[in-house]
Amino acid sequence: MHAKESVVIRPARNFLGSIRVPGDKSISHRYAMLAALAPGRSRFENYSPGADCNSTLGCVRALGCAVEREESGAVVIDGIGSQLHAPQSALDCGNSGSTMRMLSGIVAAQPFTSELIGDESLSRRPMKRVMEPLREMGAEIFANNDCAPLQITGTTLQGITYRVPVASAQVKTCLLFAGLLAEGQTTVEEPTPTRDHGELALRAFGAEVIRSRNSVSITGGQALHPLDAFIPGDSSSAAFFLCAAAIFPESNLVIDGVLLNPTRSALLDVLTAMGSRVSVLNIEEQHGELVGTLSLVPGRAKPVEISGAQTALLIDELPVLAATAPFGAGLVVRDAGELRVKESDRLTAVTRNLEAMGAQVEQTADGWRIPGGQKLHGAEIESFGDHRIAMAFAVAALRAEGDTLIHNSECVAISYPGFFGDLEKLLER
Ligand code: S3P
Repeated sequence: MHAKESVVIRPARNFLGSIRVPGDKSISHRYAMLAALAPGRSRFENYSPGADCNSTLGCVRALGCAVEREESGAVVIDGIGSQLHAPQSALDCGNSGSTMRMLSGIVAAQPFTSELIGDESLSRRPMKRVMEPLREMGAEIFANNDCAPLQITGTTLQGITYRVPVASAQVKTCLLFAGLLAEGQTTVEEPTPTRDHGELALRAFGAEVIRSRNSVSITGGQALHPLDAFIPGDSSSAAFFLCAAAIFPESNLVIDGVLLNPTRSALLDVLTAMGSRVSVLNIEEQHGELVGTLSLVPGRAKPVEISGAQTALLIDELPVLAATAPFGAGLVVRDAGELRVKESDRLTAVTRNLEAMGAQVEQTADGWRIPGGQKLHGAEIESFGDHRIAMAFAVAALRAEGDTLIHNSECVAISYPGFFGDLEKLLER
């Protein structure tokens, strides 16, 4: 991570224009990991420029694959097949929970011991959710109070049927990757649906994956082929601009080439329920993923409640929805306890920062109640080193009175290094 930086966000008069966002983080991680297991050369255009996806590339390299980033940003990976090489040093997952959890499923099937390490924030995040099922499949894992560093001694894994206790696409994907390399069949049952990029990526690389309403199965021992793909724009990055457009009465926003996977587009339903007019144009399918153009014009604000399965599908978009909620007609979020174990405790981080801006907000055990029709003032914002908190409050600051200073703003590089520049391009002052 870069040295600590702060950025000043000045209020804007309007939010207008057309933009593309960088490649999707969830898909980039999965494609890179599967490329390692697919003998031959894979190439990904628009691979996420974020530090998290770079951590995945570092790990893939450490496991024996040649990885190159072309000047265009495209990533080329020479996969070596299901048997990777023992790393010479610890696999550094940086700030990336996705890297640590999903890669665990792959190294658990290798005939060597790997150590997975992360930064301070990642070393506090719960890993038991992948350790338990991987142990059940046969891996030996040591951890520090169920947190990183993880020491994983791989083996010939045995397929299992596993019901994931808390909805998590990272856990599901970890087990599908482990299942691909295991003996027999692995079935993952989910309490509520989560993003399905793991399933779609496995299919794109040639594996057969069987899906039913609440479960996904994979048979071990299938060979993958390499993939050439253009990675769609990250819908969770697009969320910051969509929420910005939604709070300016005269705004007009177009986002091209953005991921429209239904397990990632719940925000569009919420913004529509809140009164915005969202249109989807030119939908195309690319390797199982839907991609297209989005446009948003605002409308009369309406209150919204989010809970249950919808909360799980919106998990990465909740910080920006909450940070902009005071300008709308009110928001209630329930069942979002998982936000406490993200890169920061996002329930507390959002509450503190909204309060610093003068907003009324009630934090509950698993969500917030945020009244609408509020006026916010500029303030000093603490990102808690969490990229989504920094970006969410940069958006809220656009409609505040006075300037806002966002501390530790460098963390946006985790998912979106060019965020502040792109935000600026859409502003009218
Ligand atoms: C992700 C799943 C979610 C999400 C994270 C990316 C993924 O985490 O918050 O940013 O790519 O599978 P959980 O699996 O912990 O819900």
